[in-house]
Amino acid sequence: MNDFWEGLKNYLLYLERLGVKTLPAKKAFKRFLELDLSPAPKDLAEIAAEIKGCTRCPLHRTRTNIVLGEGPSHTKLMLIGEAPGREEDLEGRPFVGRAGKLLDQMLKAINIRRADVYITNVVKCRPPGNRNPEPEEIEACLPYLRKQIKVISPKIICTLGLIAAQTVLGTTEPLSRLRGRVHQLDHLKVVVTYHPAFLLRFPANKRLAFEDLKLLKKIYDEVK
Ligand code: URA
Repeated sequence: MNDFWEGLKNYLLYLERLGVKTLPAKKAFKRFLELDLSPAPKDLAEIAAEIKGCTRCPLHRTRTNIVLGEGPSHTKLMLIGEAPGREEDLEGRPFVGRAGKLLDQMLKAINIRRADVYITNVVKCRPPGNRNPEPEEIEACLPYLRKQIKVISPKIICTLGLIAAQTVLGTTEPLSRLRGRVHQLDHLKVVVTYHPAFLLRFPANKRLAFEDLKLLKKIYDEVK
């Protein structure tokens, strides 16, 4: 467990001993990272072992592979998309299809190597026909994402598309209101941008996405 989670756990245990039953946490942080006392997994392999054969939601019936994520086990930057598509489902890796190729170009444009970033999705199994994941499917899958964040301990999260942004920030605000600025979620900085699949369909938004990417790069260089 890293220092942050160890410290938080000890502090919560201390408050519990004093008789404190509830905490006034910020809504988004509480919803997304949840102040639970469960220990952080040892490593990503522990999460992979836990998710293997997962049947927490109906998506398990139609998936080929679970797409947990890909990248170094500790990174400064984590990218979070929506859910695996067809190619990702077949290969078991995130962002390997057309949207993935555009994501590679987006990272290249700001001089960040894909190999240096951890890439995952809110939902780890493909929704049939690439439909949006249902709220219950997102809720069922969130514990895995929370655990990934605990292990990887990123300083910055970049969300790709509306579903990832709204899930991570615990909001129903539109993407147009969430992008273009840095959100602070406790110790994490969150930058919101468009999903590459959306940019493939509506390329006029690439200019705005590039603004987001420049903002991402600025804080990426600033944060140690
Ligand atoms: N779209 C996503 O949100 N994630 C992927 O991994 C691929 C496409």
